[in-house]
Amino acid sequence: MNTTVRTPAPPRLVVGISGASGVVYGARVLDALRELGVESHLVVTRAALLTLSQETDFTPDQLTAKADVAHRLNDVGATIASGSFRTLGMIVAPCSVRTMSEIATGVTSTLLTRAADVTLKERRPLVLMVRETPLHLGHLRTMTALAEMGAVIAPPLPAFYAKPDSLEQMIDQSVGRALDVFGLDWSAVRRWEGLKGGAEA
Ligand SMILES: Cc1cc2nc3c(=O)[nH]c(=O)nc-3n(C[C@H](O)[C@H](O)[C@H](O)COP(=O)(O)O)c2cc1C
Repeated sequence: MNTTVRTPAPPRLVVGISGASGVVYGARVLDALRELGVESHLVVTRAALLTLSQETDFTPDQLTAKADVAHRLNDVGATIASGSFRTLGMIVAPCSVRTMSEIATGVTSTLLTRAADVTLKERRPLVLMVRETPLHLGHLRTMTALAEMGAVIAPPLPAFYAKPDSLEQMIDQSVGRALDVFGLDWSAVRRWEGLKGGAEA
């Protein structure tokens, strides 16, 4: 049998944007991946297009233009629906309770949730930037189930130690910390460098 040496796949990340508040997190993930030279594969839910129109001045085309490849939500034959398509993993930013719950049950009615299920079965990192508050017991149990399956639950919460001087900085800090899970080091992250003034004994 002939074997050929294949060119390694480029680093790729799957990006899901669902209809929780904070569609800007997904937009900034795409910007960060472009800066980092990581190929982005985007899939957006219908509800995310609603939050896009309510929360930003972006058109859907302007959002998808930030991605290297934009997949259709119902295209379950897309590359990212198969585990044989190699990726670094997947991030859902932001992740609605509806999308989170669908991923947890294994019901994969869209390309977004199918790609998330594939990410879990291939034991690749799946980061869910779940945004809802307050949380009821069912939400918390679903998050526990997902953590048990290997997902990383990463709600976008502000890091005040980073002394954000703008909303944009606060958003980028959350995005960058979520990308840390994939070993991607985005320059926008302000990293803790220990206590100022030498508090150590
Ligand atoms: C402006 C707006 C803000 C919303 N914020 C949230 C939210 O923060 N978290 C959430 O789980 N759902 C939120 N929703 C509701 C979801 O969009 C809704 O549950 C939808 O069915 C989610 O579908 P998807 O998971 O396919 O995107 C919001 C809806 C709108 C219109």
